[in-house]
Amino acid sequence: MSFLSRVLPLLLVYYIGLTVILQQLLRRLRLGSALAPVFPTQNEKVAIVTGGAGGIGYHTVKHLARLGMHVIIAGNDENGGQESVRQVKEETLNEKAAVMLVPERKTQYGFEEHFGLNYLGHFLLTNLLLETLKQSGIHSYNARIVTLSSATHYVGELHLKDLHSSCSYSPHGAYAQSKLALVLFTYQLQHLLTAEGSHVTANVVDPGVVNTELYQNVCWAVKMVKWMTAWLVFKTPEEGASTSIYAAVSPDLEGVGGCYLYNEKRTKSLDVSYDEELQRRLWTESCKMVGIPDMALRGL
Ligand SMILES: NC(=O)c1ccc[n+]([C@@H]2O[C@H](COP(=O)([O-])OP(=O)(O)OC[C@H]3O[C@@H](n4cnc5c(N)ncnc54)[C@H](OP(=O)(O)O)[C@@H]3O)[C@@H](O)[C@H]2O)c1
Repeated sequence: MSFLSRVLPLLLVYYIGLTVILQQLLRRLRLGSALAPVFPTQNEKVAIVTGGAGGIGYHTVKHLARLGMHVIIAGNDENGGQESVRQVKEETLNEKAAVMLVPERKTQYGFEEHFGLNYLGHFLLTNLLLETLKQSGIHSYNARIVTLSSATHYVGELHLKDLHSSCSYSPHGAYAQSKLALVLFTYQLQHLLTAEGSHVTANVVDPGVVNTELYQNVCWAVKMVKWMTAWLVFKTPEEGASTSIYAAVSPDLEGVGGCYLYNEKRTKSLDVSYDEELQRRLWTESCKMVGIPDMALRGL
């Protein structure tokens, strides 16, 4: 593995992280602590939140529950996951579980951990729940899928021939790739849902740089800087959850899918994420990896 293939992703990830932090600081100075938006109550609705036990996910769960939703926290436990599928009625699916910058290692199914957990796990979960989501969405109240990406996708590269980074592993590159894959997946999913005329929407959220446990694998020097500056330049987990909550329940987004959302606004993702051929190829490859039929091939 070349020195460059390890160092370049690291530099790019830190570059994009610093850029976001600077924007957050300017925004905080400009707006102060803005009041949280108020959303309509969501009684009788069901939300599934992966990674809902901590960080951004926890604050998403808390807010959705306050709005009256029945919230299911999806975790590692298989029985719990099956129970989630069984209980689903009108639904919002929030996909937040993730790891960042872990050393090279594999999931129990042999996938590189960032790609397997952050991306493929959510790809599979969405596909398993899709029929239920389609049945629960109606014209005036679409079922919603909310995927959590990150600004690191802007410096991500999708290596279709080496999605598990076995030729050359960089934790920064692998994390960024998993987050780019989530953007490509969400857009492709929306194309398929639109083609079918289903009442399900899929959007992807960038929460900003948020003070959570996600940074547990950064080096000690970065941990130290984070410890000293997070109060000023990082979002709190509650602030970090706000765009996810917006994507899950805001009336502004009724029937609207295929958007990249940041600070509760639609914004542009990386140019290559709009490449429909790449979206299709990743989808097909992902179906093969998780062993499900490719609905894109049979036109849904
Ligand atoms: N924090 C940021 O600055 C930031 C920036 C951009 C994007 N994001 C994205 O936002 C999402 C939430 O991150 P966060 O900041 O809230 O991080 P976090 O506090 O570390 O939360 C991550 C969640 O993922 C769960 N998780 C980890 N490994 C898992 C596994 N093997 N199976 C099931 N669940 C697992 C964790 O559960 P356990 O604690 O039980 O392991 C935890 O609830 C992630 O997708 C992350 O990539 C975060």
